[in-house]
Order: sequence, then C-alpha cells, then structure tokens
Amino acid sequence: MINQPIRDQAHNLRELVGKSKSNMKIISVSSGKGGVGKSSISVNLAIALSNLGMRVLVIDADFGLANVDVMLGIHSKYNISHVIRGEKKLYEIIQTGHGGVRFISGGSGVSELLRMSESQIKEIMKGIMVLREPTDIIIIDTGAGINENIVQLLLSSNETIIVATPEPTSVLDSYALIKTVVLREQAHPIRIIMNKCDNRKEAESIAEGFREVVKRNLAVDIQALGYVMFDQELPKSIKRQLPILISHPQGVAARELMAIARTLIDLPAMPLSSGRLSRLLSRMFGH
Ligand SMILES: Nc1ncnc2c1ncn2[C@@H]1O[C@H](COP(=O)(O)OP(=O)(O)O)[C@@H](O)[C@H]1O
Ligand SMILES: [Mg+2]
Repeated sequence: MINQPIRDQAHNLRELVGKSKSNMKIISVSSGKGGVGKSSISVNLAIALSNLGMRVLVIDADFGLANVDVMLGIHSKYNISHVIRGEKKLYEIIQTGHGGVRFISGGSGVSELLRMSESQIKEIMKGIMVLREPTDIIIIDTGAGINENIVQLLLSSNETIIVATPEPTSVLDSYALIKTVVLREQAHPIRIIMNKCDNRKEAESIAEGFREVVKRNLAVDIQALGYVMFDQELPKSIKRQLPILISHPQGVAARELMAIARTLIDLPAMPLSSGRLSRLLSRMFGH
C-alpha cells in the first residue's frame, strides 16, 4: 500500500494540474536529420508569432547542439537543470531576446523533467508558480534524430512540426521519425515545413508525394505548413546574431515564415496531449 503522505501529494498534484485552464499551445520542432534548419525556423517563427501579438517562449532542448540563444543574440549560462537542482530560480534563467521572444535553455533539464517523480515535480512547481508569466505558445527545438527523449518530447507537445529539405535523405529520415511517432500515438498531430527549397513547385510535388506515401503506409495525413526558400541571408544572420525576421523582414524566407505563423494561429487548437511534460509546462507558463 502507498503510504498516505505520498498518496496525498500525488493527489494534490493532479488537482493542481487539472485546474489549469491554459490555452497555451506547445509546438515541438524536430527533424530526422540535423542541419535542415530547425533552430533557424524555431527562432524566426517565434519572432513572427510575437509580431502577431502572441506571447512566445522558446525552449532549446537540443542537448547536443544548443544554439538558439546565439541566434537570438543572448547568452545563457544556466538551464532547466539548474532549476531542478534548486541552484537557480526559473526567472533567473528566462531571457528575452530579439522581438521580445522569451527563451530558456532546456539543456539536459528537459529530459530530467520527464523522469522526475510527482513529489519532486510538486516541489519545483511550488517555486515556479509564483513566477510564471502567461505564454500563448511554447516552441521546443528538440534536436534531430530518433531517440527516446526526442520522441517523448514530441508526444508531450500539442503538435509537432517536422522540418525537412527537399533532399531524398532528409525526406527518408523524416519518414522514419514520423513512423516512430505514429506507431506510438497514431493521432499525434504532425505537420511538415519544407526548408531550403530552390523551387517551390518542385518542393510542393515532393511534399505531396511524401504525403501520399505516409498516408498509404502509416494511415496518417501529414500536410505541409509551408515552403521556405533557400535564402542566403539566413546563414549570414547567424553570424550577425540578428534573425532574418528582424534584419530582412521582406525577404523570401521571412515572408513565408510570417505566412506560416498566420496559418499556425488560425489552425484549430489541437487537443492537449497526454504527455506529462505538456501538463507541467502548461502549469509553469500557462494562464
Ligand atoms: N531557408 C534557408 N536558406 C538558407 N540557409 C538556411 C535556411 N535554413 C537554414 N539555413 C542554414 O542551414 C544551417 C543549419 O541551420 P540550423 O537552423 O542550425 O539547422 P538545425 O537546427 O536543423 O541543425 C545554418 O547555417 C542556417 O543558416
Ligand atoms: Mg539546431
């Protein structure tokens, strides 16, 4: 039999989480293969959404290659692990970058959050609840590849954006990632952004072909959210640490990202996922 105090704690936590009436949306951004533009898209999409009046928080959960802070022109020494270990308060690790986008470095802390017991989570929540700031959209840049942490993160979000390029290797790797997610949770909403496209028509036909194959083999419909052209300003913007949504808002890539942001806002809200992390984040940053 579970001892009484622990059972009470678990009960209290469920009550706490259950009362959350957050409309916050958690969008995870992932890819089968690295270097396709996840971080560039996460950062610029965050600024685009912020331009449209959304309160946006970006979590950099790419443990190996965290670089969102550099792109946003900020320096972060601390991440969620420091909050979990009680060394920092949440407000001390949240930073504001270009376009008013708030940012926290997940570091390995995001995967630690997934493993914590309910009583540990409750302890952290106590400290966090007084500090929370309402957030409309959380974008989690998850890093590339197929591993348990990434799949858990994707399943913990309301919806997943997979970034792919029109190259066959990227398309194949995206398929493998989608298959892994769909086998775990058939109904998890997934959309794709084709990035670094040379030619919109060609990218559209690749995305359509991909959609057909996925529909036939996995019985899910993966629509393209948009097509971002190859834009030479993007690599330059990383060196300048000024995202293109700010430096070149009228460029081809920026205009497409603004269009994707509008689509994302207009899309009907997806049901809240069952993941514990999503409930935790709703509680931390939701209304
Ligand atoms: N639409 C694009 N046009 C041109 N270069 C791009 C585009 N998107 C990303 N890049 C470049 O590709 C490289 C990898 O991008 P990054 O966002 O770091 O990818 P990931 O996070 O998937 O590893 C960077 O040098 C970036 O400037
Ligand atoms: Mg990246």
